Amino acid sequence: MSRMGSGRSLVLLSIVLSICEVTVAAVPQSFSIDYKHDCFRKDGEAFRYISGSIHYNRIPRVYWKDRLLKMYMAGLNAIQTYIPWNFHEQTPGHYDFSGDRDVAHFLQLAQDVGLLVVLRPGPYICGEWDMGGLPAWLLKKRNIVLRSSDPDYIAAVDKWMGKLLPIIKPFLYQNGGPIITVQVENEYGSYFACDYDYLRHLTSVFRHHLGDEVVLFTTDGAGVSYLKCGSLQGLYATVDFGPGGNVTAAFSAQRHAEPHGPLVNSEFYTGWLDHWGEKHSTVSTTYIVKSLNEMLSMGANVNMYMFIGGTNFGYWNGANTKYAPQPTSYDYDAPLTEAGDLTDKYFAIRDVIKMHRKIPDGPPPPSTPKYAYGSVKMSLLTTVSKALKTLSFAGPVKTKYPLTFIELNQLFGFVLYRTTVPMDCSKPTPLSSPLNGVNDRAYVSVNGVPNGILERNKVLTINITGTPGDQLDLLVENMGRINYGKEINDFKGLVTNLTLGSQELYNWEVFSLSIDEAISEGLLWQGGYGETASSTPPRSNGLASPAFYTGRFIIPDGIPDLPQDTYIHFPGWKKGQVWINGFNLGRYWPDRGPQVTLFVPANILSTSLPNNVTVLELESDPCTPGLCTVEFTTVPVLNATVKSHPHYARQLFRKDLL
Ligand SMILES: *[C@@H]1O[C@H](CO)[C@@H](O)[C@H](O)[C@H]1NC(C)=O
Ligand SMILES: *[C@@H]1O[C@H](CO)[C@@H](O)[C@H](O)[C@H]1NC(C)=O
Ligand SMILES: *[C@@H]1O[C@H](CO)[C@@H](O)[C@H](O)[C@H]1NC(C)=O
Ligand SMILES: *[C@@H]1O[C@H](CO)[C@@H](O)[C@H](O)[C@H]1NC(C)=O
Ligand SMILES: *[C@@H]1O[C@H](CO)[C@@H](O)[C@H](O)[C@H]1NC(C)=O
Repeated sequence: MSRMGSGRSLVLLSIVLSICEVTVAAVPQSFSIDYKHDCFRKDGEAFRYISGSIHYNRIPRVYWKDRLLKMYMAGLNAIQTYIPWNFHEQTPGHYDFSGDRDVAHFLQLAQDVGLLVVLRPGPYICGEWDMGGLPAWLLKKRNIVLRSSDPDYIAAVDKWMGKLLPIIKPFLYQNGGPIITVQVENEYGSYFACDYDYLRHLTSVFRHHLGDEVVLFTTDGAGVSYLKCGSLQGLYATVDFGPGGNVTAAFSAQRHAEPHGPLVNSEFYTGWLDHWGEKHSTVSTTYIVKSLNEMLSMGANVNMYMFIGGTNFGYWNGANTKYAPQPTSYDYDAPLTEAGDLTDKYFAIRDVIKMHRKIPDGPPPPSTPKYAYGSVKMSLLTTVSKALKTLSFAGPVKTKYPLTFIELNQLFGFVLYRTTVPMDCSKPTPLSSPLNGVNDRAYVSVNGVPNGILERNKVLTINITGTPGDQLDLLVENMGRINYGKEINDFKGLVTNLTLGSQELYNWEVFSLSIDEAISEGLLWQGGYGETASSTPPRSNGLASPAFYTGRFIIPDGIPDLPQDTYIHFPGWKKGQVWINGFNLGRYWPDRGPQVTLFVPANILSTSLPNNVTVLELESDPCTPGLCTVEFTTVPVLNATVKSHPHYARQLFRKDLL
């Protein structure tokens, strides 16, 4: 059956190619769509791209070139990247294009390596990235309709695009750069708003800044229903779909919107995303090479999503609904691993590409070496509640009802909500969020003693005990904003009132916490919290108070080529956040899985100074009895067994079921 199938597509291939080979008068540095011959034209020649997605925002800058070179050596002639708005404009009007955010440098490197670029500058990107790339400060206008003609949203978009697109313009192919096509919005047909005026407005903004010549396109799921609201006159409609299905049928959705022009799969899934608490996703190489070969045989343009996934460092992961945050690793089971390592999938894909275009001679750059720095002894630095004065730069805000992160001008991390127990709770009394308004997880203590954990959609009630006047603390964690669907207006913190027994709680002190600043400026070490080597935080109910732990390791002398990349393990630890030398590596949650180790890139390590590991453990540390450690090893573990849960039964490649 499959032989017959590929035989048919080979016939189709020769027809497509022979027509496309007609050469139109060569124009230097031009890139356009040839509707007559169903292909792209680059400098007048028929052109087809074979591309892979790489997100510069998920890879340390020092590794950009290595990863791009590996993509080039796989036979790709293009890459695709998103530009996440919230990565560059973290507060309104303050733009950051330096270091790991230097997208112009990334584009230049791609060109230097010999790769063209398919650019996806949003403003919304999805991408399993916090709020789909939209800055959370947009939510300051409480009822803003994101991704629509809402005037406040449009004003912010126009300002951002007015900053970004002029940086991009010199990198357009027409202007001597690598960018061949530019996507407008992202899978807009999957969004409820269906606001054509918004798409029209974006188109005019893109045209205004980038000119009339550049090919603008849209991407939507490969179904006619998605293309209805996702495509627009003047924007070339493309589709996305994964391996294993009927390629001809999938492209027929694109043909419905674009009867002529090149076939384009803008996201051909080489793997799939993960969520905490769900089985690690893997996608068989067998399916990938089969579908890839079919598409290339049809003359189609293909972008492989992802070619390298990389890492959601810090707090950058997004979440799907019903609320399910993505882990720190964005490995994606892609042909290059999170750490940029070559896999069997990489070589299998290269072998398919080789059948369709000449690929560069020689081997790809090798996988980067890893080093096992071994065990690092950790000790208690201080609990969060003892360190409040250090962590809360401005001190508490007094408020009758709880405030959200946005109302506190805090976007990421943790906020501590404090009130007093108003009545006798000497018998276990339910503390509840009746409207499911703990976004996203609250570590609850009474007089500093842990009482339980509330979790969005999962645990809306716990029992606490206490007496009137006791201090009731909730340390609330933002676990990542929803990046897909109609719930992207994802407010964080206590977003509704809590009840204790039958009573609503009020009169709060709310502490906005600057944990990252306190760690990178060394403030927690200067606090004089008086912890000794054997101190442990208050414990009860199998929980320990949220607390910081610290440890140091020295990179050995006399071993060439150190520092090297490594993976950090958390034996006995439950859930938290980890920093090395002040760099926020991300969240660890081996207790839920499937991710167990975190990738540690060499560039954050020092060979001349002791390296500082700081752990914020939220649930329970392994530090009693005896020693507790973190361990640096050479092997990643992303696929630990998770407890199966019917709610988690999501399907591969079905975004509508995310
Ligand atoms: C794939 O889809 C096309 C178009 O819908 C159809 O003609 C063809 O029979 C399908 N192939 C298989 C193997 O199901
Ligand atoms: C709270 O305590 C009551 C009384 O002891 C008990 O019936 C109930 O199951 C507990 N609820 C939770 C959520 O633990
Ligand atoms: C909390 O309750 C008060 C009074 O019932 C109400 O005015 C307020 O809007 C509520 N706050 C939230 C965030 O729901
Ligand atoms: C680790 O912390 C110590 C003490 O705060 C500091 O002197 C040292 O420079 C830090 N190491 C690195 C690599 O930043
Ligand atoms: C995780 O992946 C490794 C390496 O691919 C494999 O050997 C192991 O069996 C997997 N573990 C689980 C629990 O699936």
